[in-house]
This record gives sequence, C-alpha cells and structure tokens, in this order.
Amino acid sequence: MKFSTLSLFPNLIDAYFQNSVARIALHKKKIIELENLNIRDFAKNKHNRVDDIPYGGGAGMVMTPQPIADAIRHCLQPESYVIYATPSGKVFNHTLAKQLAQKEHIIFIAGRYEGIDQRIIDKYVDAELSIGDYVLSNGELPALVMIDAIMRQIPDVITPESLIEESFEDNLLEYPLYTRPEIFEGHSVPPVLLSGHHLDIKKWKLQKKIEKTLANRPDLMHNSTHK
Ligand SMILES: C[S@@+](CC[C@H](N)C(=O)[O-])C[C@H]1O[C@@H](n2cnc3c(N)ncnc32)[C@H](O)[C@@H]1O
Repeated sequence: MKFSTLSLFPNLIDAYFQNSVARIALHKKKIIELENLNIRDFAKNKHNRVDDIPYGGGAGMVMTPQPIADAIRHCLQPESYVIYATPSGKVFNHTLAKQLAQKEHIIFIAGRYEGIDQRIIDKYVDAELSIGDYVLSNGELPALVMIDAIMRQIPDVITPESLIEESFEDNLLEYPLYTRPEIFEGHSVPPVLLSGHHLDIKKWKLQKKIEKTLANRPDLMHNSTHK
C-alpha cells in the first residue's frame, strides 16, 4: 500500500518514519510505500507563496489552490483515494482505519493556516476526515495519526494476535495489562492471570473489557455483541 502526503513540513512526516512500527513497515518489511511531497515545491509564483488572504474577509490566510492541485496531479493514480485532514470532517475511527487499509493508494492533504481553498475539496477530495473535536495548528499530525492507525491494519505490519485483542475490536476497550514484577509497591497482579487456567483468564479478560468500556466509553456498547 502506498501513502502520499502533501504538506508544507515534510520533515515532520519523515521524522515519524524513522522510528518503531512505521520505520519497520516502510524501510525493513517494505509493506508500505511513502511519497512525502512539499506543496511549496509545486508553487509557480516568484516567491513560492502557498497562501493568500481569504475572499470575503476573515482572520488568517488560506492555502492557495494551484500548488495543491499540481501536487495532487503529480501523485494521482486511477486507484488513489484523496483525504483532506480537517477538523470539519467526519471523525476518523477504528472502523474507518480498517476500511481504508483496503485501499491501494491514499493521498493525504495536510493543511496549515486557516485551511485550504474549497475548490480543491470540491474537485479532488474523496473524504474530509477529522481526528477529533479540537483544532490543531497543522494537518501533518492528523495525517500521521491516520496513517499509523491504517497501517496497523495492513497484514504483517504488526502480529495478527495483537490486532484481535486491541481496543475497539467488537466495540470493546482493552482489558487491563500487567507484567513483571508480580508485586509492585504492594499491589499484586490479579491471581487469575497467574493461574495458568486459560478459560478463566479468557473470561476475566472479557469481563474487564466490558467493565472498562461501560466506565470509559458506554457509547461503544450500543454496537457491541456483549451488551
Ligand atoms: C488551524 S487548522 C484550521 C482550522 C480551520 N480554520 C477550522 O476552523 O476548521 C490548520 C490545519 O490543521 C489541520 N487540522 C487541525 N485540526 C485538525 C483535526 N482535528 N483533524 C484533522 N485535521 C486538523 C487541518 O489540515 C487544517 O487545515
């Protein structure tokens, strides 16, 4: 699978791919491909300007359409799916991450300033996605957040067993985790986890998943088969 990122700070994207799961998927396992483009490189004006004042007035600057359109055309393939990261988009979640992992090529547009010219969205964008109900100063972080979540759902990026038990599978959150030592600052690991009794451990994990979901995200339970 290929990701293309169109942003004004490609160094932020590059830095992320120097570490951990992202680095291994890209450089070692070569499961994913990354095309990290600087929108400014496509600007055709004298000073490589990529922003201008908004028509109709209003605060801040708007990213001009020409450099973004040219950057999109540079990497667009018949199978490409174009996403604009924006707080006014539909909220990205685990289900969308799984669906998007089926795509062959995703192009992410990361905004800056007040955002991008609407005509880019109207003509080129397949989905406007937000990573949550707050406003960040840039689209590089949201693009990376979505790429990471999508990438994890691609076979062999992480071990399949890890995916099955993760939060949001079957609309439940993950059970509490414990590791060595058995007693830490007077607190013991729940005895069932030391029992070696696989069925009891399985039951305990499910019970804890339900308790945690009810406490932290009761909204998820509406769609769970365990309600
Ligand atoms: C300062 S924000 C623009 C906010 C915009 N004026 C608004 O009120 O919706 C600059 C860029 O950050 C990105 N961004 C900020 N918050 C985001 C979020 N919650 N989800 C996705 N992208 C976000 C977008 O790419 C956006 O173009």
